[in-house]
Amino acid sequence: MNKAFKTLAPVLCAAALPLAAQASEVNVICSAQAAWCNMLAVTFEKSQGVKVNLALKGSGEAIAQIVAERANPKTDVWFGGTGDPHLQAAEQNLTLEYRSPTLPKLHDWAQKQAAQSGYRTVGIYSGPLGFGYNTELLARKKLAVPKTWADLLKPEYKGEIQSANPASSGTAYTMIATLVQLMGEDQAFEYLKKLHGNIAAYTRSGTGPIKAVARGEATVSISFVHDGPGEKAQGFPLDTVTPSDGTGAEVGSMSIVRGARNLDAAKKFYEWALTPSAQALGAATLQFQLPSHRDTQVDPRVPDFRKIKLINYDHAKYGQTAERRRLILRWEKDVNSLPR
Ligand code: G6P
Repeated sequence: MNKAFKTLAPVLCAAALPLAAQASEVNVICSAQAAWCNMLAVTFEKSQGVKVNLALKGSGEAIAQIVAERANPKTDVWFGGTGDPHLQAAEQNLTLEYRSPTLPKLHDWAQKQAAQSGYRTVGIYSGPLGFGYNTELLARKKLAVPKTWADLLKPEYKGEIQSANPASSGTAYTMIATLVQLMGEDQAFEYLKKLHGNIAAYTRSGTGPIKAVARGEATVSISFVHDGPGEKAQGFPLDTVTPSDGTGAEVGSMSIVRGARNLDAAKKFYEWALTPSAQALGAATLQFQLPSHRDTQVDPRVPDFRKIKLINYDHAKYGQTAERRRLILRWEKDVNSLPR
């Protein structure tokens, strides 16, 4: 087979499919970074002959949309974003129970995510929460690299830190849930109130803060540290650190919407997204989460979990609708309403 035909073969095969299959399409909400989402869509379309209609939304916005579409779902698959809202969707019976034959090939944390949702979601990647910092700005401002959560409260970081808003961002909700598990709830909220005084801006999306830091618009961010190497690879003066007093990790997840109009295509996408070759598209687009399939090649830039002090994050508890709603409301009322 010559090279041009090889590239075109999947497309040509799709063209030869019967009419019903030709019309096949899948509506995907993608809560990972745009470059990865677009690559997934293009590659799936080319290799499987199924058109992908892609919507990019943060984890909090994605769950809000799926709730709003409950009576008449327009979304078939929800790919990526932090696992807690996926568990919340499972609890509310918004997503479909589906046991992938690939499950036994996934890491334990990904299988656990599936089991605790009643098989309505599955882990596709994991990554730890920490801090991003602009190495040039820190040096210029003669600031030390923050090493602990407590460090972020120091007066010299006032106005230097960006975080995301937990209502729209799963990253920021992971931060709140992590702090509550580390410190106890009341102390965590005392901490968040003090941190608020040092925050320059809360962004809508979880990656907003690290991108701002990379570009010199802020000095420190609270971010998933796997988002650091991608910024660095683009030439930005950025590094990351995980707090030595402990941190949480997300289990980025994937779910099929209950009542999906394109169920066959949804299952096809879901199965394909769990394959090592599809998962390798993450690192190919500079996304360095740990992939859930054990056979996916792990890029050396993926954070080494063995070197990070991780809490035993209770995803079942913090993925509950009532818990997430309550903590976000408390943050709005007790923290975000305070002057800065
Ligand atoms: C980025 C990270 C993902 C994470 C997502 C959450 O894309 O690379 O690992 O799942 O943010 O986004 P959100 O906007 O909901 O915080």
